[in-house]
Order: sequence, then C-alpha cells, then structure tokens
Amino acid sequence: MAKRVIFDKSTFDLPLAEYADSTRKAIYTKTLFDEIAHAYDRFALGPISFFREAGWKKWLVENVPAIPQGPIVDLATGTGELAFMAADRYPNRSVVGLDISSAMLAVAKSKNSRRKVAFCSMDLGKMSVADASVALFFGGYALRNTPDLRALLSDVHRLLIPGGIAAFLDFSKPVNPLHRAVNNASLRIWLSFWSLLLHRNLRIYNYIPSSLNYFPNHKALKRLMEETGFEILRRKRFMFGIAEAQIIKKAR
Ligand SMILES: C[S@@+](CC[C@H](N)C(=O)[O-])C[C@H]1O[C@@H](n2cnc3c(N)ncnc32)[C@H](O)[C@@H]1O
Repeated sequence: MAKRVIFDKSTFDLPLAEYADSTRKAIYTKTLFDEIAHAYDRFALGPISFFREAGWKKWLVENVPAIPQGPIVDLATGTGELAFMAADRYPNRSVVGLDISSAMLAVAKSKNSRRKVAFCSMDLGKMSVADASVALFFGGYALRNTPDLRALLSDVHRLLIPGGIAAFLDFSKPVNPLHRAVNNASLRIWLSFWSLLLHRNLRIYNYIPSSLNYFPNHKALKRLMEETGFEILRRKRFMFGIAEAQIIKKAR
C-alpha cells in the first residue's frame, strides 16, 4: 500500500445517495475506507473517539459469555483490532477477519503476527461461509455499514452454531428526538473538524451522522434482532448514547 501523507487532500467525492442505495453502498464504503485506511488506526481509533474506542471494544470482548466450540469471525474487520483482541481472549480458536477494503485489510495483515488469525476480502452482502459453522461473530461498525442490515442479521443467524454469539459495536441512534438532535449536532461539529484537518474533505467522517438516517433507532434495532431470532443478552451505551454495544445469542 502506498504510504500517503496524512494531511493530503482526499479525492473521495461519492455523493451520500450512493450510501443510501443498498446496491451501491458497498462501492461507497470500499472507496471511502480505501481512502482513509492510512489514517484509521492513528486517528479514528484515537483522538477522534477521545481515546475511548479501545475501551468500548474491550468491554465488548470481555462481556461475551461462554461460546460453543468453533471459529470466530470478525465482520468488517478493518485494520483488525477486534480480531486481534478476540485472538487474545480465545488463543486456541481460529479467527478470521472479513472486509471489503483492500487498504484496510493491508493494514490488518501488516500488524498480524499470529498463526491463528487470518484476513480475507469479502463483501458482507455476499458472505460465503458455511451454515452453522461459526461460534462467535464480532462486528465493529459492521451493522451500519453493511448493504442490508436485515439480510446481515439473518446471515449471521444462519451461519452461527446453535448457542453461538454475535457481539456488535456501532454508533447508536437515540429514540428521543432531542437526544438524537444533540448527538447528531455534536458528531457533525467534531467530525467536520477532523475531516478538514486530516483530509481537507468534509465528506470523509461526516458520513457517520448521515448514515444514522438509514439505521434503526435503539429500540427498533433491538426489535429487528429479536425478529431475526436472537436473544438479547447485553446492551451498553457509551458516551451519552453516541455508540452502543450489543451482545446477542442465536436463540432458535
Ligand atoms: C469503521 S470501519 C470498522 C473497522 C473495525 N471493525 C473497527 O471496529 O475498527 C468499517 C469497516 O467496514 C468495512 N465495510 C464496509 N462495508 C463493507 C462490506 N459491504 N463488506 C465488508 N466490509 C465492509 C470497511 O471497509 C471498514 O473497514
């Protein structure tokens, strides 16, 4: 991967309408993350989240209950942080990280010194994984970014071994309109600052608050998970409900 200077002007120019279109969404996210991969670990996981993000992932990994025998899959693995944390918690399991962005995967692979961790290029909308074969799914920001959320949850349910667990972390959409408006405004101000500073392109991180327009709110997400056949085990909101972790189990 060519090393780019952080404060370069980004060339990313896809309109948000592409993100809103489930048939175009994967192209939008791949183009965006290929563009920002060089800055992701240093900034998105660091100062942009007030250095809180690692703690959210730690909570997620530590709160997974007992899982059946079988491999672990990290959906939308990006630079592999959750995959590596999973490998630390489950040293005898195979962990596979899937992602659509070759630049994000290149960063993950460059950090990987573990025999039991592998990374693989795959679109979450077209997963080729055997039915009932996975013990535990992780997904950091996979739910919001996948082309079709209901389809992803159904796939995760089908691919899990009975009793298997899925653990997700993502931005959250509060139910209360005032709470939602405050979170949205805060995200826009903060992310505009970083988009301009790092990439001289307002589109870069501002897709996050916009993406929540196409994402179910806190209550509706729970309902969708239950409708797909999951039992909700734990939900935890972080930073005034800006982000949320969900741990769910294949109940039937
Ligand atoms: C915000 S990053 C999260 C990376 C990592 N999971 C983390 O928590 O730090 C979102 C990731 O989703 C990936 N992604 C977006 N759409 C995808 C798709 N359709 N299939 C696979 N990966 C996708 C992007 O390439 C990007 O690496």
